[in-house]
Amino acid sequence: MKICRTKKSLSSLSAAWHRAGETVAIVPTMGFLHEGHLSLVRLARKKARRVVVSVFVNPTQFGPNEDFAQYPRDEKRDFALLRAEGVDAVFAPTPEEMYGADATVSLVESKLSKVMCGAFRPIHFAGVLTVVLKLFNVSRADVAVFGRKDAQQLAVIRRMVRDLDVPVKIVGAPLVREKDGLALSSRNTYLSAADRVRALALHEALDAAQADFRAGKTDAGRATAKIEKALAKACEKVDYAVAVDADTLEPVRTLGRGTLLAVAAWVGKTRLIDNHLL
Ligand code: PAF
Repeated sequence: MKICRTKKSLSSLSAAWHRAGETVAIVPTMGFLHEGHLSLVRLARKKARRVVVSVFVNPTQFGPNEDFAQYPRDEKRDFALLRAEGVDAVFAPTPEEMYGADATVSLVESKLSKVMCGAFRPIHFAGVLTVVLKLFNVSRADVAVFGRKDAQQLAVIRRMVRDLDVPVKIVGAPLVREKDGLALSSRNTYLSAADRVRALALHEALDAAQADFRAGKTDAGRATAKIEKALAKACEKVDYAVAVDADTLEPVRTLGRGTLLAVAAWVGKTRLIDNHLL
């Protein structure tokens, strides 16, 4: 497994692979890898001959009072996991390598990124889109794999690729859960044992909504009100519980196939997200 610390080294490697007629997939991550990330790597392996994983805690997607400094990091363990998966290259630049000190351009999406998490994290998606576009440009990837756990991120990235004609195929991968239903997230490490139990409320509320939907209850307003009520009992604060179209993120009045039920809530000092695609 090659370890690329500079943009130039990754671009040269990818150019050599392309010259040899090989396709390249990228899995962008912020490291502290778990089974969810590894499932993205395995899917990427099926989509292209070469797989690159980026491990970069991107400073530009964290707000001033967010957890950039505390975000868990363990590069040695990440690299060992990726080596065991047969990854061809890891891209792990420093922030200085990734961004010039005088960089003045960033990418703003003006609709999908303003709702849901975007309403609470105003600069988040500009940071995500900017770094993801840079990763596409540097890696020259043909395919990029993202988890459906970050359903809004996936929708916003798909929109960027569509609107800017970025020559990469975006693949969405299924959300991975612990045995008890908690969605895997690097931020789960912040949870105390008691908070981890309370955090199960997110997936339980979504499961109940899905069961109601299967039983023929399709009123979106009632479904989200019920989810919000269940979350309010277990969590410190509910940022949102919404029923939206998974591609446009526009609210729906009636639940149907392709509706995304999505939530964000605070358990202790940890903000968690989860979703179900009906
Ligand atoms: O989903 C993430 O881990 C990050 O938002 C991403 C896509 C790697 C960009 O920093």
